Amino acid sequence: MAKPPLSMVPTGWFQVAWSDEIGAGEVHRMTYFGREMVAWRARSGRLTVMDAYCEHLGAHLGHGGHVEGEVIQCPFHGWQWNHEGRNVCIPYQDRPNRGRRMTTYPVVERNASVYIWHDIEGREPYFEVPDIFADFGERTADDYYPQQRLYRTGLEIHPQYVLENGVDFAHFKFVHKTPIVPEFTRHDFAEPWSYVDFTITFEGDDGQRIEDVNSGVEAINGGLGIAVTKSWGMVDNRTISAVTPIDDRTSDVRFMVYIGRTPGRDDQRTADRARKFGDEVIRQFAQDIDIWRYQRYSDPPALATAEYEGFTAIRKWAVQFYPDGLGGSAADLAKVRKVDTL
Ligand code: FES
Ligand SMILES: [Fe+2]
Repeated sequence: MAKPPLSMVPTGWFQVAWSDEIGAGEVHRMTYFGREMVAWRARSGRLTVMDAYCEHLGAHLGHGGHVEGEVIQCPFHGWQWNHEGRNVCIPYQDRPNRGRRMTTYPVVERNASVYIWHDIEGREPYFEVPDIFADFGERTADDYYPQQRLYRTGLEIHPQYVLENGVDFAHFKFVHKTPIVPEFTRHDFAEPWSYVDFTITFEGDDGQRIEDVNSGVEAINGGLGIAVTKSWGMVDNRTISAVTPIDDRTSDVRFMVYIGRTPGRDDQRTADRARKFGDEVIRQFAQDIDIWRYQRYSDPPALATAEYEGFTAIRKWAVQFYPDGLGGSAADLAKVRKVDTL
């Protein structure tokens, strides 16, 4: 295991919970980016994510704070805060404190997940959260069985490891036991959303040629925190992987799979088969986790000739999400090393 050398406070959208973990009137405690936070859902259903410590005298709103209609009330002296983090009531004074504000985070609920925008410079979101259905067109949530999930907490994994997996064609054969090495058909790293498409098969033997394969995967990376994929030419599946730093060493990993319904087949056997296939997709992702959690980020890495393009593109693209604009200490070190050798 090794502490990730890349910044653990990157900018972007990151998953912090699933929507169904926070019911109306509930307060949910969590720690991300080294900060204590609470997510609370007002009676109207509106979800707010804010820092956990009350701006009055610092009580933790996740320990005894409760929702009163559309605001959260602190357990210590009853001050109430609204979804913008503004104080709306001091119970023993006729006017609220208009000056102090709780830090709140932009929130999006999409595909059953709760995402927050994190930016240590406090900038507003400048790109969107990808939607597993809308952004690939055609089919909608109704065309799929309910989401299947994997959740692992506190692993020494950096979000970038998981995205690099998408350009890493060689690992598929060794980690996931595909019969042949996939071929990339698209690498597009021009914007905060990047796109990676590849031809891949899990069927047949190693005698087949990649040119003859008629199935593949399309992926959208929405910043470093979220990657969504769509398959074609195989069992219809869509996946979301989301990695969110907890502190400067560890992250939470969430992975979600949707398996497509077969039109006209509503029976239990078809549903069971779909569930089994979803379990298999999750098992494959878990195989990756077992590599990532013990991996030491290699920078600069030793690369095979065919690996240069993909890895160089994704690492260059990733830099925009780091507060130092360099890619964290690993890139810093690489620079220093280069200066040394000049
Ligand atoms: S510490 Fe929250 S109301 Fe006093
Ligand atoms: Fe993988």
